[in-house]
Amino acid sequence: MSQDLVRLSISGTVGVITVDNPPVNALSPGVPEGLLNGVQTFNAMDDIKAIVVIGAGGKFIAGADIRFFGKERAKLPMKPQDALEQSKKPVVAAIAGFALGGGYEMALGCHYRIALANARVGLPEVTLGLLPGGGGTQRLPRLVGPALALDLIVSGRHVPAPEALSLGMVHKVFPVGSNLLAEAVHFANSIADVRPIPRIRDMKDKIKAGTPDLFDAKRKEIARRARNQESPYACIEAVEVACKTQIDEGLKWEGDKLRYLENTDESRALRYAFFAEREAQKLPDVPKGTPVKEIANAAVIGCGTMGGGIAMCFADAGIPVRVLESSQEALDRGMAKVRNNYEVSVKRGSLAADEMERRFARIEPVLDYAQIGDRDVVIEAVFENMDVKKEVFKKLDEVMKPGALILSNTSALDIDEIAGVTKRPQDVAGAHFFSPANVMKLLEVVKGKDSSGETVASTMALGKTIGKAPAATGNCDGFLANRSRAPFNSEMVILLEEGATPAQVDKVMVDFGYPMGPFAVGDLAGLDIGYAGRARRAAADPNYRKLPIADKLYEMGHYGQKTGAGWFKYEPGDRTPHRHDVVDQLIKEHMEANNIAPREISDDEILKRLLFSSVNEACKILEEGIAYRASDVDIMWLYGFGFPRYRGGLMFWADLIGGPQEVYNQISNWHQRYGERWAPSQYLRKLAESGTPFKEANGVVS
Ligand code: COA
Ligand code: NAD
Repeated sequence: MSQDLVRLSISGTVGVITVDNPPVNALSPGVPEGLLNGVQTFNAMDDIKAIVVIGAGGKFIAGADIRFFGKERAKLPMKPQDALEQSKKPVVAAIAGFALGGGYEMALGCHYRIALANARVGLPEVTLGLLPGGGGTQRLPRLVGPALALDLIVSGRHVPAPEALSLGMVHKVFPVGSNLLAEAVHFANSIADVRPIPRIRDMKDKIKAGTPDLFDAKRKEIARRARNQESPYACIEAVEVACKTQIDEGLKWEGDKLRYLENTDESRALRYAFFAEREAQKLPDVPKGTPVKEIANAAVIGCGTMGGGIAMCFADAGIPVRVLESSQEALDRGMAKVRNNYEVSVKRGSLAADEMERRFARIEPVLDYAQIGDRDVVIEAVFENMDVKKEVFKKLDEVMKPGALILSNTSALDIDEIAGVTKRPQDVAGAHFFSPANVMKLLEVVKGKDSSGETVASTMALGKTIGKAPAATGNCDGFLANRSRAPFNSEMVILLEEGATPAQVDKVMVDFGYPMGPFAVGDLAGLDIGYAGRARRAAADPNYRKLPIADKLYEMGHYGQKTGAGWFKYEPGDRTPHRHDVVDQLIKEHMEANNIAPREISDDEILKRLLFSSVNEACKILEEGIAYRASDVDIMWLYGFGFPRYRGGLMFWADLIGGPQEVYNQISNWHQRYGERWAPSQYLRKLAESGTPFKEANGVVS
């Protein structure tokens, strides 16, 4: 097997080891064996003077095969990266595409590293709840110094080759289009006789800079974002170990730590999220090979909160976009907001001023539909009102060129009804962005009953092009993301009726791992959004569970941060939430009027009431066949709602704390106590009975 995955060939006096394990040359079983065999074979051949390691298919090595973490792995007499380092003949790593994780660690075992200019290198293991366990934590600090190694290993970021060159991570960079193998062989010939061979294990100077304050400062820096996590701290400790011990001792420490981390829930969750994200790209009802439309330009209708943000997504991706508004005044206001958003990024230092100008110049304000007819895609983001949407779609049907993608950013309205006013419902789908649209990564792609496979696939592909994490759903009120989130939103307010406070609920959810509590998020987004949605649902459903405290608060003018008060009070120019007497009073009055005795509500009850209510709703959505799979729910919660990634997502988390049986039992109790809103989904009951974990729940269990 190793013969196939790793090929050996000879070019003059240079031995070439080629890793060929599509799609990404991961270090699956057979690859490490093949690499080891290659080094040993070429070291035993007298006429070979130097060795090149390269990957097939324009990629070096994407790292360990993630599917094999947590499983037994074959023990080799020696790790290939150690064998490469100890090779008596110099070894050159030739990097195209990417050298990530175990791939870059393999390159660090080599004596020289050369790369194509569009390659990326890095140690992203922390993003999978791990540490680089193939020598990376011990070799990188020796190569580039502990401060930089800490930055790279703790962030896990992919470093573009030109930057890697300036940081000393690679020796030489060749222009895109160069024949990398030929360059590598040439380079290998040029260093074949250089002695001593530069081995990272012998570099001792830079690690002297690893003083305790460096590591303490890093721990402080990550404390908030890495709360509840182990791997970022293990990464810091590993670099500290590198600075304090001999390399062989450090390598052993690193290996032991990796074996521990790969069995943590944190790593399981992050590995699951990696594959869930890729699974979400697969559309079971769209045939493979369905053509995807080229998008060279775009239009957005409405330049409000969402339209402006969506236009920025296109501009940021280099795609020219026209935004159309109903009046010059609205257009000016919207464009000023867009400009302001960019200026904030420039002030924060995350965007260069000249790059901002280039992006802003890609957004062209227009007032006339005639100016958007030739666009490849149009995304409607006008008021959430069916009549207004229908008007807009009728116009789009008249002006858009044949085959254009016609998408709506509606949060909840019926895509079929919207598509129904056009003569081309096959070209219409939902493209639901999350606020702020230029920041949040989720793109929820909504398939209408007539949306063609090509439309859905093209909208998914468009999401990728503009840097989003797309995931698909069928059409229903609120679609998958907001519908599964709705019970959480109700339950958090119902908890107040029983004596909890907004601050208590927010603290529970922040401690769980959310960046902000849900009440603070509500204040940020504006309480008018929820109010309008509740009013619409209450009008449609006489049994709708009303939220009188939330309604009264809104009616008193508490719209959130924009009015200085919502669930919390805000000082001018400051986003810090403060307890608000008015809210306390509203809660008290409600309890007195309804004879509710206040009770201590535990943090555990708060967490489970919010999240289990949504797990139950997600099960109903799966049962109705609206969602493809439970892991899509997780992707939507991770990227749309800030659910902590190291918990995998709503459904994966539910698996970790007991799975369908545990959730079903608890929900059944609450069903008896609170009535119909807690009626357990039949699908949940079936999963519990069959012992099927949520992560395996793909549609209805028969
Ligand atoms: N192990 C196993 N499978 C991997 C893998 C790995 N290290 N890296 C990628 N794959 C798989 C993906 O699951 C996907 O499979 P699918 O087609 O069945 O869904 C396929 O390879 C292509 O990956 P994808 O991410 O869609 O390709 P891309 O070109 O967008 O990105 C990478 C390529 C390498 C940048 C990206 O896959 C990546 O970041 N991989 C992980 C790198 C990493 O963390 N390495 C350290 C491991 S400890
Ligand atoms: P908004 O009120 O901020 O912006 C709507 C814009 O549309 C306004 O600038 C208005 O002038 C313009 N407009 C109205 N009618 C128009 C017409 N006929 N032609 C051209 N322009 C017109 O609203 P928003 O928050 O940006 O929401 C827009 C859409 O996005 C809604 O469907 C909403 O449900 C959805 N959405 C909103 C959020 C959010 O958090 N705000 C999140 C996801 C989706």
